[in-house]
Amino acid sequence: MNIEYFETSRVFKIDTNSTSYIMAVCDREKFLGHVYYGQKISDSDVNYLLRLNENPFVPSLNSRDRGAFLDSFPTEFSGHNVGDYRESSIEVIDKNGNRGVSLFYKSHSIYKGKKKLYGLPSTFAPDDKCMTLEIHLEDDVLNLEVVLFYSIFEDSDAITRSVKVINKSDDTISLTKIMSVCVDMDDDNFQMLDLQGAWARERQIEYRSIGHGKQSIGSTRGESSHQENPFIGLCDQSISQDSGRIYGFHFIYSGNFIAQVEKNQFDMLRITMGIHPDNFSFELQKNEEFTAPEAVLVFSSEGLGKMTRTFHDLYRNHLIRSPYKNKKRPILINNWEATYFDFDSEKLISIAKEAKTHGIEMLVMDDGWFGKRNDDNSSLGDWQVNEDKLKGGLKNLVDRVNEIGLKFGIWFEPEMVSPDSDLYREHPDWAIAIQGRMPSRSRNQFVLDLSRKEVADYVYESVAKILRSANIEYVKWDMNRQLSDIGSSGLAPQRQGELMHRYVLAVYDLQERLITEFPDLLLENCSGGGGRFDPGMLYYSPQIWCSDDTDAIERLSIQEGTALLYPLSTMGAHVSDCPNHIVGRTTPFETRGNVALAGTFGYELDITKISNEDKNQISKQVEMYHKYNDLVREGDYYRIASYRENHYFDCYMVVSKDKKKALVTYVQVRNRANAHVRKIRLKGLDPQKKYTVEGMEKAYYGDTLLNAGIVVKNMRGDSQSTLIYIREVEG
Ligand code: DGJ
Repeated sequence: MNIEYFETSRVFKIDTNSTSYIMAVCDREKFLGHVYYGQKISDSDVNYLLRLNENPFVPSLNSRDRGAFLDSFPTEFSGHNVGDYRESSIEVIDKNGNRGVSLFYKSHSIYKGKKKLYGLPSTFAPDDKCMTLEIHLEDDVLNLEVVLFYSIFEDSDAITRSVKVINKSDDTISLTKIMSVCVDMDDDNFQMLDLQGAWARERQIEYRSIGHGKQSIGSTRGESSHQENPFIGLCDQSISQDSGRIYGFHFIYSGNFIAQVEKNQFDMLRITMGIHPDNFSFELQKNEEFTAPEAVLVFSSEGLGKMTRTFHDLYRNHLIRSPYKNKKRPILINNWEATYFDFDSEKLISIAKEAKTHGIEMLVMDDGWFGKRNDDNSSLGDWQVNEDKLKGGLKNLVDRVNEIGLKFGIWFEPEMVSPDSDLYREHPDWAIAIQGRMPSRSRNQFVLDLSRKEVADYVYESVAKILRSANIEYVKWDMNRQLSDIGSSGLAPQRQGELMHRYVLAVYDLQERLITEFPDLLLENCSGGGGRFDPGMLYYSPQIWCSDDTDAIERLSIQEGTALLYPLSTMGAHVSDCPNHIVGRTTPFETRGNVALAGTFGYELDITKISNEDKNQISKQVEMYHKYNDLVREGDYYRIASYRENHYFDCYMVVSKDKKKALVTYVQVRNRANAHVRKIRLKGLDPQKKYTVEGMEKAYYGDTLLNAGIVVKNMRGDSQSTLIYIREVEG
């Protein structure tokens, strides 16, 4: 890891273990150019890549054609309305109503450590394990300063970027767009990779070709969304798990975002990523500053797999803060799919008792325990325990569950209000709404205007009061609708464009307060399943509910897409009952368990009603969880085959960091007549170590298992699966 500035060539060179990122200050005017990003290179002065000498339009030599220069120059942070017609990175409206930004290098500093991003999630590391470069750019007409931050970590190939805008003028400026990333590069026949989806079908891997013009993904829904995850990759056409180049860009933010690739007339690409400019503006008065969220850049020349493992390690080591991050999470049983709204304390106690006999460790009471909530039409906001359901109150229930020997967890949806609630009747103006217009309902609910302090405080106290009242060790923080009708009765007219971002900041602040007051709390984020599964939320909770679709086969592609970026330790995954409530498919209990073991693991069914055969399997699965979870949580993830691609079987493995243990999961989704015994080549093992493989009589060297592989017998029926445990031979 190193960051250096070379005075004579005016070059900044950032080196991670295997990548280099190079910028240069150019021309007399001090444009900041983007020179190179990719595999590590030895030279720093590769300024020929800027093609300034080839270009007759260098502005200080040829002001006549300055615009032509700006429209082709590979810039580090694009301005606006001054001649570069490609995507801008920043836009403002000044006191005269003018829009135009042109940024030039002013100064820089390089230091050990990394600053926190105020109010926002951000990666971290001890000062001696990371380095930061700050480049200060300036528009001296506006008196606007833009600071670009780049940080690197001793143990990672990731580069993080964030941006701060400071209004140094005496006048108010309206910031109407700010990207966190802008990277210009030549197109090398790349394709674009993203994760798209829908409710109950989140994070599906999608490749698309890059045409001229702009192609983007994004969210304007107030959350990162089920529909598009804040990630894009640019990769070789021939990318595979183990070979090919990929640039991955991931945004540490939980609200509106845009991630875009633009291909211009010269076949150059501009990648931008940041807060979505739709519905966004932020007023900056004299000396005020705006911090744009952090983004992570990962380049891998060894395929998708290496990129994946870089993201996993970065998030496990430098983003997740929870005390649970390196611990086994209690195996939970959640009553949502077991009872929906129809439960009382006796029902929960009967589930807890049965769960305990099978080794389950925590009962989670889901939606429906408060107000008059017997369906999803009422009571959000009225966080008083419904004592008709919980006779004797919440503490009594929690104590009884604890006496049985289980921990207790609870569900909240703090950000919402039902029109049919005492809260809404008392404070209709607390809902997000455009003045004079009734906001549209979704799941018959409105979103609370958390940008207002009194609303956020009410929300916090409602949750905290319940947590203070009993021994509650886990919270599932849900959010079941996306934002619309964006308007706040608490913001001045010229500040209405701040609401979406202020809302996200308020969610972060609420969760920060919660984990500060309850430091041992296990927090799981959720948004109608996985609608807010993003790196931002991982800063507050070590796990996120992956999807409302708990069908083992559907989960294969959901979890494959999720695990492309997010560590397995963060993926909320449960075994549910069959036929599956979302897709109606019946899969073997064993397969449901094997697939859920790749995540946080738990149950989502009425254990008092399932067959004895299934119950007995729970005890076995619990045993496997205890045996394998350290490996799954902390190991390196390798994808071997994808059902999404081969329409037949899915296979992945996790290898411990010391390469002494590994676990292969193989799911035969479809059986085939006359199927041959399948050979799979393993990954990640040490070629020199000798391993025993579950189901094989003799031990084999890693190089045999990596190159020759193992065989997996065909299983009778569809949706069959097997786990294969591999261990280094001792002695
Ligand atoms: C959506 C979540 O994803 C479910 O697990 C459940 O908690 C429901 N909300 C409750 O309303």
